[in-house]
Amino acid sequence: MKVYLDNAATTPVDPKVVDAMTEILANRYGNPSSIHEEGRKAKNAIEQARKQIAQHIGASPSEIIFTSGGTEANNMALKCAVRDLGVERIISTRLEHHCVGHTLEKLAAKGVQIDYLSVKPCGNIKLDELESLLQSSSKKTMISIMFANNEIGTVYPVDEIATLSENHNAVYHSDTVQAVGHFPLNVSEWPVHFMSGAAHKFHGPKGVGFLYMDGNAQIQPFIDGGSQERKMRAGTENIAGIVGMQVALNQACEQMQTRKSHILNLREYMKSALLERFEGIEINGPENSEALLYTVLSVAFPPSETSSFLLMQLDLKGICASAGSACSSGTALPSHVIHEIRDDEDGYTTIRFSFSHFNTIDEIEYTLEQLAALLPAQASV
Ligand SMILES: Cc1ncc(COP(=O)(O)O)c(C=O)c1O
Repeated sequence: MKVYLDNAATTPVDPKVVDAMTEILANRYGNPSSIHEEGRKAKNAIEQARKQIAQHIGASPSEIIFTSGGTEANNMALKCAVRDLGVERIISTRLEHHCVGHTLEKLAAKGVQIDYLSVKPCGNIKLDELESLLQSSSKKTMISIMFANNEIGTVYPVDEIATLSENHNAVYHSDTVQAVGHFPLNVSEWPVHFMSGAAHKFHGPKGVGFLYMDGNAQIQPFIDGGSQERKMRAGTENIAGIVGMQVALNQACEQMQTRKSHILNLREYMKSALLERFEGIEINGPENSEALLYTVLSVAFPPSETSSFLLMQLDLKGICASAGSACSSGTALPSHVIHEIRDDEDGYTTIRFSFSHFNTIDEIEYTLEQLAALLPAQASV
C-alpha cells in the first residue's frame, strides 16, 4: 500500500488542475506581454486568475502579485518592507518557516533589529509580550508571525495581532502559506498588510504562489526587468501555473468545509488510536481543535531502539511522512521548531503526519498497523 501523509510538505495535484494546466500549455502559448491576439488571450487568462484569487481572500486584483511560491512572496514582503517602508525592527518568532527565519537573519546582518517573542509549549505567543514589545520602541516596526505553523499546527491569534499592529502603527506580515485554501481568509476584515500563498499546498502546482499586499503598503519592485505584474515582479509569467493555482483555489474554497471535516475525522482517529494503542506517545502543538492547522498531526515517539529510524522504516512500508526537518544522508536533523518547544535531551523522535481530503481511514489504519509492528515494545494493544 502507498500512503501519502506529507501534505504539509506538498499536496498531490488535483486532476481538474492538471486538465486546466494541460489546456493552457497546449493552447495559451502567447506571451502575455505581446499585444497580438495570442498574447491577449494569455494575458486574459492571467487576469481572470488574479480576479478570482483576489476574490477568495477579499482583496482587489491589483493587490495580488504572482510569484514563484511562498518563499519568494515572504522574501518580497520582508525585504521590500525594510527597503521601502522604513521598517527598522521586526517582531517575529523562532518557529517561522526558514524562508522567513533565514530572511530575518539576513536582515539582522544589515542592521535591522529582530525581536523574537517567546513561545508557549504549544507554540503560541503571548499577546501581552507582543504588546509590550510594540510599546517599547518608537522604531518603525513590522510584525511577521505566520498564520499557522507547518510543523506542529499552531494557529496564531491573527485578529488580535492585527489589532495590536494597527494600534501601534506597525506593518503586519503573515505567512499564510499553510492557511490559504484551508481557512477562510478575508483581508477586508483582517487588516494585514502582506500575506503569502503557495499553490502546491492546496493541490495546485509547485513553483507558483502569490503575495497579497495592501494597496496602502506601497513597496517598490522586487525583481527588476520588464513591466509584468505592474512592474513589481518582472519576468514572463507562468501562465499554466497561475491558472492551475486559480483552479486549485476555486476547488479548495468551494469544498473547504467538506474537506475540513473529512481531514479532521482522519486526524482525530489517528490521534486517539495513537494515544490508546501506544505507550508514552505525546502530541506536539495545540490541544484545542478550534485553533489548529487541522491538516497536521505532530507526534513525539518516546526513545526506543527503532524510534530514531521510524521515518525510514515507514518509507520502506510505503508510508510518506516527515520529520518536519531538514534531512541529510538519511539522518533526520532536529527541526528548529521542535527544538524550540521540546527538550532536546528527552530522546523523543517527532514525526509529522499531514493529511489531505484524498486520504482514507484505511490508510490511517494501515499506518497504525505498521507503527505497531515497528514499535512492538510501545504498542499496548
Ligand atoms: C509556512 C510555510 N511558509 C512558506 C513555505 C514556502 O513555500 P514554497 O515552498 O512555495 O516556497 C512553506 C512550505 O513548506 C511553508 O510551510
